[in-house]
Amino acid sequence: MTDKALTVPAVALGTWAWGDSGEAGDGIFGSRLSEPGLREVVEKAQSNGFTLWDTAAVYGMGRSETVLAKALKGYDRGEYQLSTKFTPQAAGDSDDPVGDMLEQSLERMGTDHVDLYWIHNPRGVARWTPLLIPLLRSGKVKHVGVSNHDMQQIALADQILGEAGFRVEAVQNHFSLLYRASERAGILEYCREHDVRFFSYMVLEQGALTGRYGPANPLPEGSNRAEVYNGMLPRLQALTDRMGAIGEDRGAPAADVATAWAIAKGTTPIIGVTKAAYIDGLVRARGIELAEEEITELEALADAANVDTRGWWEPDM
Ligand SMILES: NC(=O)c1ccc[n+]([C@@H]2O[C@H](COP(=O)([O-])OP(=O)(O)OC[C@H]3O[C@@H](n4cnc5c(N)ncnc54)[C@H](OP(=O)(O)O)[C@@H]3O)[C@@H](O)[C@H]2O)c1
Repeated sequence: MTDKALTVPAVALGTWAWGDSGEAGDGIFGSRLSEPGLREVVEKAQSNGFTLWDTAAVYGMGRSETVLAKALKGYDRGEYQLSTKFTPQAAGDSDDPVGDMLEQSLERMGTDHVDLYWIHNPRGVARWTPLLIPLLRSGKVKHVGVSNHDMQQIALADQILGEAGFRVEAVQNHFSLLYRASERAGILEYCREHDVRFFSYMVLEQGALTGRYGPANPLPEGSNRAEVYNGMLPRLQALTDRMGAIGEDRGAPAADVATAWAIAKGTTPIIGVTKAAYIDGLVRARGIELAEEEITELEALADAANVDTRGWWEPDM
């Protein structure tokens, strides 16, 4: 087993959009992010105790990892945690594609270990999971998680690691008010019962659940997220309006209520942070306690919106 238990802040920070920044962007988010702006995000996050940074080798094909490492420059390695991923579809054809992809991530991030290493999706659980074992033994990987895996696939990965004295310590799936497949499939419950940390990604549905975007102010034209969500925005209005109203008493906008909901469900949200001001939202969300009736009401409004936000890369749970 790894010597130290996995400990995580109330909210983790996502940097998929950071791979989009600058002229080499791949058009997922269409955000205009600058290096000084992202440095500000890092400073504000770090000083507020949000120190776990999630990225992946494939976000902007390495760009997210590179930009993140640059923004974290000057901090001691012990002051932040790095979470990155092996993506089966991008595997090379060497004897050890997992080790090789990790080496490239380590090089881009200028470090000798990652705190949390994920198998990005379940394409080949039996093939890829065993290759994590030497990385755990060497200490290059401190903890292992699986992403986009269903119940059986999580159990299989855990069994493979278990034979070597390790285990799946974290699960990372799409989980938002609008997309609760992991709860319905019993994965949240499994994680609670087995002391596995559940990280929810796309809690804000890439901006569509923040209340900042709506029919009159759609997501950035030409981006992938605009294509996915802009058509749904009118149907999300009742939900985002109610989140805004619930937040009002607590001095918090709708986005903070969405994040607080994910915390209330016992998960660790990974929020894609693009502006320093969004860190204030995480501080507020960390302090919001939603009443049971508020949670029920928001989930009912989410169901009434009747939209399917499953990502094109996400298998059925
Ligand atoms: N394992 C996987 O397969 C997988 C898949 C998807 C994501 N992820 C991880 O999860 C992270 C989060 O997902 P995501 O970035 O796709 O989407 P997200 O967290 O649902 O939404 C992020 C977007 O919401 C807006 N936003 C963030 N905080 C806000 C706030 N406080 N107030 C208002 N707007 C706010 C920003 O848009 P603007 O810049 O337009 O303001 C930002 O780009 C990713 O970065 C990645 O690390 C993992």
